[in-house]
Amino acid sequence: MDKILVHGGRSLEGEVRIGGSKNSALPILAATLLTRERCVIERVPDLSDIHYMLTILSQLGCEVERASGVVQVRAEKILTEAPYEIVRKMRASVCVLGPLLGREKAAKVSLPGGCVIGDRPIDLHLKGFEALGAKVTVKGGDILLQATELKGAKINLRGRHGPTVLGTGNIMMAAVLATGTTVIEGAAEEPEVVDLANFLIAMGANISGAGTQHIEIEGVKELHGASHSVIPDRIEAGTFLVAGAIAGKKVTIRRTNPNHLGAVIEALGNAGFDLSHTQDSVTVSPNGARHPLHLETIPYPGFPTDMQAQFCALLSTMDGTSVVTETVFPQRFMHIAELKRMGADIILDDHHATIHGVDRLSGAPVMASDLRASAALVLAALRADGVTEINRVYHIDRGYERIDEKLNALGAHIERVKV
Ligand code: UD1
Repeated sequence: MDKILVHGGRSLEGEVRIGGSKNSALPILAATLLTRERCVIERVPDLSDIHYMLTILSQLGCEVERASGVVQVRAEKILTEAPYEIVRKMRASVCVLGPLLGREKAAKVSLPGGCVIGDRPIDLHLKGFEALGAKVTVKGGDILLQATELKGAKINLRGRHGPTVLGTGNIMMAAVLATGTTVIEGAAEEPEVVDLANFLIAMGANISGAGTQHIEIEGVKELHGASHSVIPDRIEAGTFLVAGAIAGKKVTIRRTNPNHLGAVIEALGNAGFDLSHTQDSVTVSPNGARHPLHLETIPYPGFPTDMQAQFCALLSTMDGTSVVTETVFPQRFMHIAELKRMGADIILDDHHATIHGVDRLSGAPVMASDLRASAALVLAALRADGVTEINRVYHIDRGYERIDEKLNALGAHIERVKV
């Protein structure tokens, strides 16, 4: 199990290229199950979560080939049972349910457990499958879906904490081959949902409204093979912008889509950083005065929950008192205790973190608990005095391609140690 050592106090400067979006690539790869023909997916990031998804596809019977960022999948004959051993490693495995149900009218996949960011139910996915005509059974830790026919339906996917991103994708993938029209109300508006819809449309699906709360899907008889290039990862981009803010002189992120980063750019601007952008790049540089923030995570286009931990790290190093409220995953604050070990002054009250900026953070041994929490610890460590030892870095490898190498290329000093 690797750990990383971050030697703090270096200034970052230069350019970094952003990879393809993990959260887009996962459902898009699952969607290749919907056709017997070959699909070619470009700009697939090299991450352990992607590796798990490709393993699931292979075990379901797909031919999978991967060469650098290009993945080819041919799902000529497929099985409908995803193996527990792999599925349990990644919650996003649930996004094979929709395509298996859509194509084979049957699926058996293990129920995902909770995780450190809290209880992660999939009731809305199951409600959607039922509305399309599937019988849903949960037995022996597995979800079983069965249908004789899938029929278009009107489905509201808004839950207690807002819309569901993977749920919207799952229902779209099941509905593309149903008879008649499916209307999803309360749909997630995230760019990853739009990217999936664009891939499904390239495969011959009839979908309108992706990117709004109202999506309509007119079922078609079958889908064909297609090629698609995955959108840039907006969370990786946001994380490097915060790296530039926390420790940078001037950092430019390239191969990104600034339109997907609106709330993050706005928050950094409000905090007093200078930001400029072109069509596919964003530059952040310090600008003297810093201002504390009141931030609230909200589904897209609001401020992303996947950037909350990184901003907690940044705000810990800035003068004044900031308040961060988490509304999407109210228990997603595992990074707070670790940031406090590094000297951060944060009071957690239910789903609000009150952050009093401190002059200095100090390096300490800390534990990565989930993907974005780990990124926050790396960011804090860039600004901390001394060496921060981050254990369990497999969490970070789930979602960031070579983050240590990319930060080192900007001037950081990070070592990866095999333990
Ligand atoms: C996706 C992202 C994750 C991101 C999250 C919210 C992937 C692989 N992961 O996760 O990085 O943090 O969106 O932007 O794309 N909920 C229910 N019932 C359900 C489903 C969800 O109550 O059936 C709740 C969740 O517990 C949470 C909220 O709805 O409170 C949003 O979750 P959801 O959008 O479904 O997250 P994911 O799609 O799993």
